[in-house]
Amino acid sequence: MSAVGADAPLVRLTGVGKNYGNVIALRDVDLQVDAGQVTCVLGDNGAGKSTLIKIIAGLHRHDSGTYEVEGREVVFDSPRQALDLGIATVYQDLAMVPLMPVWRNFFLGSEKRRGFGRLDVEYMRRTTRAELARMGIDLRDVDQPVGTLSGGERQCVAIARAVHFGAKVLVLDEPTAALGVKQAGVVLRYIVRAREQGLGVVFITHNPHHAYPIGDRFLILNRGRSIGYHTKDEITRDQLISLMAGGAELEELTHELQAAARGLAGETEDALSS
Ligand SMILES: Nc1ncnc2c1ncn2[C@@H]1O[C@H](COP(=O)(O)OP(=O)(O)O)[C@@H](O)[C@H]1O
Ligand SMILES: [Mg+2]
Repeated sequence: MSAVGADAPLVRLTGVGKNYGNVIALRDVDLQVDAGQVTCVLGDNGAGKSTLIKIIAGLHRHDSGTYEVEGREVVFDSPRQALDLGIATVYQDLAMVPLMPVWRNFFLGSEKRRGFGRLDVEYMRRTTRAELARMGIDLRDVDQPVGTLSGGERQCVAIARAVHFGAKVLVLDEPTAALGVKQAGVVLRYIVRAREQGLGVVFITHNPHHAYPIGDRFLILNRGRSIGYHTKDEITRDQLISLMAGGAELEELTHELQAAARGLAGETEDALSS
């Protein structure tokens, strides 16, 4: 009984499952992505996060359940088909060429040409600079090789590229995983900008501290199953953290770490005072 068109969510998965041979990677998962919202998918390694986004991205096909885009059921044969419906995925490795200029990477595979097939370099430079500026990134020089940017800036270029080429849904696979605190902040801020522009964002992470401040909905996966699916007003940050870590397990670990830290502090004091 789903509405087709404007009222329907951008993406809706219902009871989705996926096996690799006899490995159950995903079982009975529901997920909804709305315009102007960030949907976070959390879970430890092996939880099924990448499998889920590969299904959304059209790279893998689900074995059970349904996948709808704006109210219409879809079965994708390739990522191209997902992209044509405005579902863009930014993978961790980003598919960029480090030695090529930023603008070149921005337009990679979608180069703008003038007469006789010549590249319209000026247009691409200008557009890249403007698109990054619009999202709050001020790059002095779009001619610099993308490899000279920080990890966070590279993520932002990849996101800006998806937005520029008409994405409605932006799927980000652990965009903050390899980054330090400050760089992660740059990317998180950027995700908020994308949301403000009306995109539906799917943000995959194993870090509840990154997810909670910017998320509107949270799906927590554990060994391929959903162990929680909440809107922000239904869950506190601490509850999210403890759900993610399996509750009791985390508490035990916290005590252990505190004890270890106390021990360490004691030793340091001893060393300093002797
Ligand atoms: N191509 C594959 N072939 C077989 N098993 C896979 C494949 N991809 C993932 N898996 C398995 O599916 C489960 C979920 O993996 P994945 O979706 O990559 O989890 P996550 O991204 O949360 O770390 C894991 O047990 C993993 O080993
Ligand atoms: Mg993964």
